[in-house]
Order: sequence, then structure tokens, then C-alpha cells
Amino acid sequence: GVSWKLADHPKLPKGKVVAMVVLDGWGEAHDNQYNCISVAETPTMDSLKNGAPDRWRLVRAHGTAVGLPTEDDMGNSEVGHNALGAGRIFAQGAKLCDLALETGKIFDGEGFNYIKGSFESGTLHLIGLLSDGGVHSRIDQVLLLVKGASERGAKRIRVHALTDGRDVLDGSSVAFVETLQNYLAELREQGIDAQIASGGGCMYVTMDRYENDWDVVKRGWDAQVLGEAPYKFKSALEAVKTLRAEPKANDQYLPPFVIVDESGKAVGPIVDGDAVVTFNFRADRMVMAAKAFEYEDFDKFDRVRVPKIRYAGMLQYDGELKLPSHYLVSPPEIDRTSGEYLTHNGVRTFACSETVKFGHVTFFWNGNRSGYFDSEMEEYVEVPSDSGITFNVQPKMKALEIAEKARDAILSGNFHQVRVNLPNSDMVGHTGDIAATVVACKAADEAARCLKFTLTDTMHSMILDAIEQVGGIYVVTADHGNAEDMVKRNKKGEPALDKDGNIQILTSHTLEPVPIAIGGPGLLPGVRYRKDVPNGGLANVAATVMNLHGFVAPDDYETTLIEVVDN
Ligand code: 3PG
Ligand code: CO
Repeated sequence: GVSWKLADHPKLPKGKVVAMVVLDGWGEAHDNQYNCISVAETPTMDSLKNGAPDRWRLVRAHGTAVGLPTEDDMGNSEVGHNALGAGRIFAQGAKLCDLALETGKIFDGEGFNYIKGSFESGTLHLIGLLSDGGVHSRIDQVLLLVKGASERGAKRIRVHALTDGRDVLDGSSVAFVETLQNYLAELREQGIDAQIASGGGCMYVTMDRYENDWDVVKRGWDAQVLGEAPYKFKSALEAVKTLRAEPKANDQYLPPFVIVDESGKAVGPIVDGDAVVTFNFRADRMVMAAKAFEYEDFDKFDRVRVPKIRYAGMLQYDGELKLPSHYLVSPPEIDRTSGEYLTHNGVRTFACSETVKFGHVTFFWNGNRSGYFDSEMEEYVEVPSDSGITFNVQPKMKALEIAEKARDAILSGNFHQVRVNLPNSDMVGHTGDIAATVVACKAADEAARCLKFTLTDTMHSMILDAIEQVGGIYVVTADHGNAEDMVKRNKKGEPALDKDGNIQILTSHTLEPVPIAIGGPGLLPGVRYRKDVPNGGLANVAATVMNLHGFVAPDDYETTLIEVVDN
């Protein structure tokens, strides 16, 4: 059994209120017109940066520091929050799938054997995000999966492709669809009946998260399972090219389409006896679809027809729900997270964000586990997100509401850790709307709020103000970069121009490091950042926070970022 008792920190006291503020998509980059954070008025974050020099630093938030395959992999919220919460670096889904495909082990596993049972008489359907973003999925893995399945008896293959434009440039969907379509055409020459059967933009079809909008999943179900969609095309390439020619078209929001044969019949509805694999390795935007495919009792939308299929996920998406029950690759075993330790050591926790980021500070933070460790010790509050909008039209999102909940939790005296995610810079950054992203950064900064606690202030007194009032401690950090760089750059770091000489807006995350600031009246004056952890990353934060709660982290945690000097 695990020994949950944490050792007392030799110098730091217990019982302080610690506010843990995660600014989503807030990296550090040099000042320029495409850095929405530096363009925006951000007095809170500026004051932290320009305050005590040994209480502000940068930490790594991308690549191997967060368990991704290479240093070219940008950070993302899943791996970022996993690292923040778990305090160790785990090889993540992208890496585990690479290994399983490289060694071929994926084809020997329980999950693949299970779906293979349908190859003789049924169709193999592959559903997921088609891009090389590496956040939710990767197209090279999809191609290897198709190849491996075809070599192992799959005679009829249908791919249901969701276009990206969020982790990759908008417009890149055309090239990804072309690559896949060409590859499937090669397979057809070898006698395998393989083609793309349906599609749609990831944010509009299938890939909703945290139950923000089930209609998104329903649109996917209708196209993939029922073969019904408002648009019908003869090929997927024709589909994306045509739909992209519409004014304001956007890969993330392409409408659902199905591919039909000469007689107008959908080429790949999912029927009894088929196998389905959702090939995203990342969980948050696949859990809802997984429920629709797996659960007998299901009331989120009318599925109309529920085919008897063999269903497997690329990974198991939820360790607590054991969903899906079949999967091709075992997920990282993110155990003994800081949240679980802290509940065992008397630390009462409050966590909050709005719907679109709610699971980040709960599910991801807790190692891809839903629910509470101990409902007596924890309270998780979800502020409903606006649904059915792109967040550039509402860049302030629910930041103030989240901050108000955090403030109330801090002032209530019921909690030792108050953890929030402020979503603005990420969610608006993904829209590629630079002006709106500047507003978003200001809103997140305002929600975090400046250090001075002034009762006369007309603004809401927010998170850091509340920490001042209760004599607490704050930790302000981020999970990865996004809003600090909104343009695609060449090797020299200059904006890369497309063939028409235009800049290309970067909707995705970045490779930049993120800030981490600590402070507050509850912090002993001698606490400062150590100088001997120069390559510190997000995984070092958990041990740091455990110290701030008065404990020493377990030995196998990445080392703390702080030390206490006598002065
Ligand atoms: C998304 O799922 O919205 C993007 O692909 C990644 O964004 P996140 O990692 O910040 O959630
Ligand atoms: Co993001």
C-alpha cells in the first residue's frame, strides 16, 4: 500500500491558504505586436514579474519536460495540468502510441485483438482528429494504424476525419485530407476497400469536452453512425475544398459532411458487426463520444440507431470510469498525484473553472481521473461556459465569475488550497483573433488581480486581493504558451509569409516557457527560488506547492523550486 503521510517541512508552516492560479495559454515571449500578452494591459502579471526577483521565474512547459515525444512538441493543457498535479513526468499518450506502433505491440494487445473480431465480416471505422498537431492525435499514427489493420485482415476501412485548424494552421485540413485520401487510394489498389466516409470541424463535430454541448457529439454521431449530414460529397477532398471556399470558413468549424456513392448513398455508416476505434490519444474531447459508443443506457441525445459494434479507444480515456473498456494502448499510469496526497494530509481543496476548462483543474490535475478523492475534503465548482459561440466574441469569458468563486472560497476559511484555471488567453488565442485575444489577456489578468488590497477599489476584489486579506500565499503560473505568440514564424523567428506574402495567424499553442510567481503575506520572508533548478518545468510545481502547505514532497517527485533562507 501507498504510505500517504507526507513529512513535515522543516521550516514552512501548515494551514496557510494557497491560491493556485493557472492562466491557460500564457507563455513568456519577447515584446512584439503578435504578443497579445505584452500588448494587453496586464498590471497584475506585470507587478508579479517586476516584483521580488527571486519569486518570479520561468518554467518549461513543452516537449520532454511534460512527457511529449520531442522538443518540437508544443505544450498543451492535458500534459501541462498532468505535470502540475502529479509532480512527475510521465511518458504521455503521444509517446506511448509512438512506441506501441514502432514496436508493433499495439497489434498484439487486447484492444486490437478485440476489434479484429469484426474484420472478417464487418467494417473497421476510425474516428478522430486529422492533423499533425500532436495534441489529441497525429496523422502519422493514423496511417500506421490503417496500414497495420489492413495487413492483419481488415478488408473494409472507413475513416471519419475531423478537421483541426486549432493545433495547426487554419486551412491545413486540405493537405491532411489529401494525404489520407491518397494513402487509402493506394490501399484500394491492393484490394482493400478503404475510404474516408465523413468529416467535419473538430469544434463543431464530435470533439466537445466536459459536456459543454452534446449537440456537437450528436452531429458526429449522425454523420458517422447514421450516415446523415447536411452536406454530401463524392470525396473528402472535394468536401473540405468546397466547404473552405465559403466565406469565413474555418477548419475548426467545418459543417458535418458524409461521402456518398454514385447513387447518393453514404459510403460508411456504422452498422451491426462493425468495429470502431477513436484514434485520439487525448481524453477530454473523446470521452463524450466514447460514452455514446459504449454505454447502453444513454440519454444525452437520441442515437436513433445503436449498432452492435466492437469499440476501442486509442487509449483508455478515463481511468476511474474505465472508459472505454477496450483500448489499443495503455494510458500513462498517473498515480499518487499531489491532490490525492494533500487530501490524506488534511489539506482541504477547492477547484474551479468554467465548463470548457473545468476538467483541466480536476480531471487532468488528478491524473485523468474523474470525481473526488475525498468529497469531505474537496469541492469542485464548475461555472457554466457559454456554448455555441467562438470565444473571440466573448473574450472575457467567465473569468470574473471564476475569480469571484475563488475569492469566496479563500475568504470562507474552509479551504487550504484554492485552485483555478483562467481560460481566456488560451480559448481566445485558439480563435486566431488577435484583437480579441488582447482583451482576453486583460480579462484574465484582471481576474487574477493585483496584489494591493484596497477596500475602496471599485473593481471586484479578486483572487490575489483575497489572499492578501487572509494572509495567504499565491502561486500564479500557466500550463503552456498560446497568446504570447499569434503568428507562425520562420527559423529566424520572423513572421513566416505564405505564398501571397501574408502572415499566417498561429491559432495553436507554442514552445514558450511559462511564468511562475509566488508571494503573498503568508509566505515566509526567506522563501525564494533555488538557483540550482534552471531547467525546472511544470512537474516541479507540485513539490513546491506541497512545501507551501507545510509538507515535503515524496522522494520520487520532481524537486521543489523553492528554498528557505534565514534572514
Ligand atoms: C483544444 O482541445 O482546445 C486544443 O486542441 C488544445 O487546447 P488545450 O490543450 O489548451 O485544451
Ligand atoms: Co489550448
